[in-house]
Amino acid sequence: MKLSAAFVVLSFAALAAAIPSHSYPHIHQLKESISSPDGWVQNGRAPRDAIIELRIVLPQSNWEELERHLYEVSDPMHSRYGQHLSVDEVNALLAPHQDSTTAVDEWLATHGFTEADVSRSPAKDWVKVKVPISVAESMMDTEYHVWTHPGTGKSIMRTTTYSLPSSVHGHIEFIQPTTLFSSPRGMAASFRQVVAAPPDPPANSTPIAVPSAYNGHVDASCNETITLSCLQQLYNAVGYTPSADNGNQIGITGYLAQFANLADLQSFYADQRPDALNSSFTFVSVNGGLNNQTQEAAGVEANLDVQYAFGLTHPTPGTFWSTAGSPPFTPDELEPDNESEPYANWLDYVLSHPNPPQTISTSYGDSEQTVPESYASSVCRQFAQLGARGVSVLFSSGDFGVGDNDPDPSTTKCHSNDGNNTLKFLPIFPASCPFVTAVGGTTQVPEIAANFSEGGFSDRFARPSYQNDAVSSYLNQKLPNGTYAGLYNSSGRAYPDVSAQSDNFRFFFTGTPHLVGGTSAASPTFAAIVSLLNDARLSNHMPPLGFLNPLLYKIAEQYPNAFNDITVGNNPGCGTPGFNATTGWDPVTGLGTPNFAVLKDIVTRNGTFA
Ligand SMILES: *[C@@H]1O[C@H](CO)[C@@H](O)[C@H](O)[C@H]1NC(C)=O
Ligand SMILES: *[C@@H]1O[C@H](CO)[C@@H](O)[C@H](O)[C@H]1NC(C)=O
Ligand SMILES: *[C@@H]1O[C@H](CO)[C@@H](O)[C@H](O)[C@H]1NC(C)=O
Ligand SMILES: *[C@@H]1O[C@H](CO)[C@@H](O)[C@H](O)[C@H]1NC(C)=O
Ligand SMILES: *[C@@H]1O[C@H](CO)[C@@H](O)[C@H](O)[C@H]1NC(C)=O
Ligand SMILES: *[C@@H]1O[C@H](CO)[C@@H](O)[C@H](O)[C@H]1NC(C)=O
Ligand SMILES: *[C@@H]1O[C@H](CO)[C@@H](O)[C@H](O)[C@H]1NC(C)=O
Ligand SMILES: *[C@@H]1O[C@H](CO)[C@@H](O)[C@H](O)[C@H]1NC(C)=O
Ligand SMILES: *[C@@H]1O[C@H](CO)[C@@H](O)[C@H](O)[C@H]1NC(C)=O
Ligand SMILES: *[C@@H]1O[C@H](CO)[C@@H](O)[C@H](O)[C@H]1NC(C)=O
Repeated sequence: MKLSAAFVVLSFAALAAAIPSHSYPHIHQLKESISSPDGWVQNGRAPRDAIIELRIVLPQSNWEELERHLYEVSDPMHSRYGQHLSVDEVNALLAPHQDSTTAVDEWLATHGFTEADVSRSPAKDWVKVKVPISVAESMMDTEYHVWTHPGTGKSIMRTTTYSLPSSVHGHIEFIQPTTLFSSPRGMAASFRQVVAAPPDPPANSTPIAVPSAYNGHVDASCNETITLSCLQQLYNAVGYTPSADNGNQIGITGYLAQFANLADLQSFYADQRPDALNSSFTFVSVNGGLNNQTQEAAGVEANLDVQYAFGLTHPTPGTFWSTAGSPPFTPDELEPDNESEPYANWLDYVLSHPNPPQTISTSYGDSEQTVPESYASSVCRQFAQLGARGVSVLFSSGDFGVGDNDPDPSTTKCHSNDGNNTLKFLPIFPASCPFVTAVGGTTQVPEIAANFSEGGFSDRFARPSYQNDAVSSYLNQKLPNGTYAGLYNSSGRAYPDVSAQSDNFRFFFTGTPHLVGGTSAASPTFAAIVSLLNDARLSNHMPPLGFLNPLLYKIAEQYPNAFNDITVGNNPGCGTPGFNATTGWDPVTGLGTPNFAVLKDIVTRNGTFA
């Protein structure tokens, strides 16, 4: 790599605003600036020689066109329903304007970079380049510091503001890692306390009547302990056997050095799914993600997700991606900072794949306000690309009711981080992205809302039309007028979309059975049901479901028994009782939990929907 040591950029930030940009192409103008990040302490300047990998994101010239395609192929009432786009079609729509590519290339050349130094996305909507801090600072007229989080001891290299020369200012959407701090604990996995479980699985006892369940009842033990069998009974999927070879696949993402332990998976199968013994999944390392199979290195989140998603869909081929992102930056090692943006690294990987799994579940999230707006919007559009390609993307809705129950006392709970410290509910990203399906949590039999199930309204993303009727009806008819005024934005994207069981899941971890809860359990459960629906469609020579939400809200409107409507419970937080589960959609359990047999009938019908 060639690096320009002495390229000095004159900075007249104050003057720049008054000068037409084309006359002074090298004058830097402010691009992005954030207030002091919650919970992080600024230490000294970052070492000049430390290497970071800059991702430079260019504006997509045809995003609205891609969005239109996405909604047409995802709307069951549209003639193009199911006609998903190929990777080449998506990339053609995402290509930036040639002027942008040229301007950015010229700028990189002035800093001594050649084509060999940069990597580009297939659509050319971003370029990445590894640079020493000193060069990044001159390129963006900024100063990087080492920031430490006292609660976790974690360190990262970031800045709170950066500028770009006017020659590229309008041709770059953003550059990271700059202002992306995320939550001090990194992307938080959404599982709760883990406790040891008895060695033997629960014995069956007098069944509990649940009319929508398989045979109209569910084992009484399911009220205390959830197993694969409980979920199959509750969601009316007993006896459905998917194909192993119709092309259907399911994927689970792992971050934060969460390893899915193979020995634990076999113990789980021996406990709950003996016919799946000896079967496994495909492990894929993204960006250097590791796969430590030492028993003590097993991750709660990874084990839970893999055991339930793959256990419910066996023998459907499963993939587990381990994306690097956990090792903290050590100022002495001068290694690339892998912490920067793990979602983006995984998305780059999976979007370049010609045939990604049709159903993907992720149980991670961050408080929406901690994620820079430009970055959140770009990641959300990447989820939309997956939807346009025919992939259903599911996220857990989070475990803190309407608030942020971050146990770290140095962070502000339920307050805005914009400097005003206003009391407010804290929505979670990526669940708040309108192009993912957010899964909230239920508990007990018969099902009620889990009181930790996160839900509410995005402050960033507007309410998409597919949920307009359901959400207006909640706001106008269910929520008492004036409730929580100022704490949430009623015109934001509302979530969760749906829900599933989320507490007391019996799973294997470090060799023994444990119980775990959290919407972490709900997302792979709902994803497994979606994967079974995709299996039924593929076996029927129909395309996969792809982006689910327009279909789910339409089905709920027309087929009241396709979802089990959850009407009891609420999601307290921020010193309030939170929202209530109600008849119809609500910001605790969404449309409700799935009835697989009913949904399967609906989605395997040929011809016009309804
Ligand atoms: C299920 O468990 C809850 C809470 O533990 C209890 O209140 C309820 O009575 C139980 N339901 C049945 C049908 O046993
Ligand atoms: C798993 O492998 C073991 C040892 O090879 C074999 O005894 C057992 O029958 C296998 N179980 C299944 C379900 O394939
Ligand atoms: C960090 O990312 C780089 C690629 O940028 C990779 O080569 C390296 O192995 C990763 N390190 C760790 C510890 O994951
Ligand atoms: C795997 O995890 C174990 C337990 O956490 C640890 O002691 C070991 O160093 C790890 N191995 C590698 C190669 O990272
Ligand atoms: C902070 O509050 C003041 C006064 O209400 C308002 O003018 C300003 O826009 C607020 N700042 C932000 C970032 O919302
Ligand atoms: C949520 O429910 C659990 C168990 O039902 C209970 O122990 C806990 O106190 C509840 N939390 C809140 C905030 O109400
Ligand atoms: C509420 O959300 C909408 C849609 O995202 C946005 O346009 C509006 O500015 C937000 N209002 C406030 C007060 O944040
Ligand atoms: C709120 O007020 C509107 C009009 O004032 C009324 O139509 C609506 O029913 C009220 N909603 C509730 C839940 O009371
Ligand atoms: C929830 O339901 C209770 C009991 O009906 C009611 O008093 C309360 O106002 C409701 N809260 C919300 C936010 O809907
Ligand atoms: C649905 O249509 C496809 C393609 O035309 C056909 O192969 C399949 O047999 C049909 N399935 C049913 C259930 O009619």
